[in-house]
Amino acid sequence: MSPAGHPLSPTSSLPPLRSLTTLKGEQIFSALDNLQQLYCPVSLSRAVKSQLEHGKLHDDVLAQPVDSGYVSEDDTDIEHIDSEYDLDELRADVFERNFAIRWLTALIASAEELPLGDEDEREQAVDKASFILASFTKLTDEDDEEDAGITREFSFKLALSPDEGSLRSRESDIPQKVSIDVRLNDAPQTTTDHTDVGLQSWGASIVFSELLCASPERFGFSREALGSSPRIIELGAGTGLVSLVLDKAMPHLGMPDATLIATDYHPAVLENLQSNVRLSRARVETCPLDWSAPILEGPLNLSADVLVATDVIYAHEHAVWLRDCATRLLAPKGVFWLLMTIRPNGRFEAVIDSVEAAFRGSHPKAPDGRYLAILSMEGVEKRRGVGRGDESGYKLFRIGWA
Ligand SMILES: C[S@@+](CC[C@H](N)C(=O)[O-])C[C@H]1O[C@@H](n2cnc3c(N)ncnc32)[C@H](O)[C@@H]1O
Repeated sequence: MSPAGHPLSPTSSLPPLRSLTTLKGEQIFSALDNLQQLYCPVSLSRAVKSQLEHGKLHDDVLAQPVDSGYVSEDDTDIEHIDSEYDLDELRADVFERNFAIRWLTALIASAEELPLGDEDEREQAVDKASFILASFTKLTDEDDEEDAGITREFSFKLALSPDEGSLRSRESDIPQKVSIDVRLNDAPQTTTDHTDVGLQSWGASIVFSELLCASPERFGFSREALGSSPRIIELGAGTGLVSLVLDKAMPHLGMPDATLIATDYHPAVLENLQSNVRLSRARVETCPLDWSAPILEGPLNLSADVLVATDVIYAHEHAVWLRDCATRLLAPKGVFWLLMTIRPNGRFEAVIDSVEAAFRGSHPKAPDGRYLAILSMEGVEKRRGVGRGDESGYKLFRIGWA
């Protein structure tokens, strides 16, 4: 548990499975308590409902404040409202849930070898682990009934230089701003398919959209740099937030004829992406593209002036696949913007330097002998209330031809 008493994410707090049989009893119970507080909080409505169902509702139960499991009684400040929000996201996080399920299952399987004091303690640990596992089944059933995804609304301020678009201002050099509003659907993730992560909009897509709108010229998004009809391809687009933002922004930036193509490899993710494009009436083409085995047929048969990708590095092979895919897709003067999410704990720690490593290693080359390189990299801070609890920040890579 964190110093503030909030549960920690399974990936950052659970001891490695290989060390299960060498742990101390209190480490096992502390890990189980953390999982129980995270996944089995007692909510007022459920507690009262269950008391009613069992005919046990007394006045004193109603009179007592029931701990929601999110915040203690004194925790009324804004910080804790935020952490309540973060906890909801953490609970809904399928990666975290699957990680916890694997850990609990392994714990039960190796119960006999756990170095616990006596049989009672062993039984207690197994009971607790089984109780938490059972709650996942209940959660899944409830999710199936109630969770049809959520509609999310995003609004970014697009900064225009004085000579751009309809907001031309001869008197002032102060950049003008227009609102870029996007509405999309985050579809419910399943608990069975751990590859459907793109059904949700991740923090990096929100942060990238914000950075791009705040300063389009920093990303070379101007008619002078890209011409009037650039081709922009998003890789691993997920719900499509970045492409949908670009669709609204490009006309204001003097590039109404830009071609936008949002790609992903996962069929359910592509389906949700297409539905989001329809919902926005956006001029965004969608098409399948798997970085590990790219098939560059129409509309991907023409190279891209800009490639964008957010939060697409979460396995060690991703950086190399993306490098090789970008080598085939990027136009001779093109640029690839990659915003990588940093998750310093748990299994994602291993991929933190994988982009730098991929571009240091041996490279495939373009027909003219050039190869892609990291032209610049900068750290981007995590935004409060944006992204999940296990994200500590981002790395923004500008990748181009060496
Ligand atoms: C963490 S999600 C990020 C989605 C979106 N870019 C965002 O920031 O919200 C990673 C995305 O990469 C996609 N992806 C993973 N492996 C891929 C592959 N081999 N080829 C293409 N897309 C892939 C997933 O389907 C998912 O949409």
